[in-house]
Amino acid sequence: MVAYNPAMNPLVISCSLNPESRSASLARQAHGALQKVSAEAKLIDLRQTPLPMCDGGPAYQHQSVAPLATAISQANPILLAVPVYNYDANAAAKNLIELTGRAWTGKVVGFLCAAGGQGSYMSVMSLANSLMLDFRCLIVPRFVYATGDHFNDDGSLNDTITRRTDELCVTATGLAEAWGQAQAPAGRVESN
Ligand SMILES: Cc1cc2nc3c(=O)[nH]c(=O)nc-3n(C[C@H](O)[C@H](O)[C@H](O)COP(=O)(O)O)c2cc1C
Repeated sequence: MVAYNPAMNPLVISCSLNPESRSASLARQAHGALQKVSAEAKLIDLRQTPLPMCDGGPAYQHQSVAPLATAISQANPILLAVPVYNYDANAAAKNLIELTGRAWTGKVVGFLCAAGGQGSYMSVMSLANSLMLDFRCLIVPRFVYATGDHFNDDGSLNDTITRRTDELCVTATGLAEAWGQAQAPAGRVESN
């Protein structure tokens, strides 16, 4: 585990809207692991933060959007726990990013995915690409991908996926620390 760092502000966002979500269990495990790194570690569950569909206009004024954007802009790293729907992250995850846009600039982002089968393992790539290209996020290249086999009968995570989730937290926090130090001072590098 990365050394305790009270200045670090990790955030997990659980994007499933399903009351019996498996990715929410991944999010809770990650939040627990991140609390060992920083007492500031936060968990936001979109089931408790209803959001409007992004319309590129009035939706930005919804009461939940500004606090969410602030939490995102203050955090690093950010772990997105997402369900895989139709070979992609679910619409709620994409909608969250559409609503909060620039708050994501320069973040280290990791993914925790719950899926029905192994075949959809590349499903977060379009969201990852958009975060990377739109907002210059640093995407943790090895993400957690859990299917039903990774959960015990009582719904808890099995040992393999618990270990993988903890590993992702270590990697993401380590990268966030290094990324902060590696950023060029503003104005020193031409933007492209
Ligand atoms: C509308 C819908 C589409 C889905 N599409 C996929 C898919 O493309 N690939 C896959 O592996 N699983 C798919 N699944 C299964 C979900 O990924 C699986 O149920 C997962 O546990 C959902 O995450 P959650 O439990 O956190 O909500 C789909 C499920 C739903 C409801």
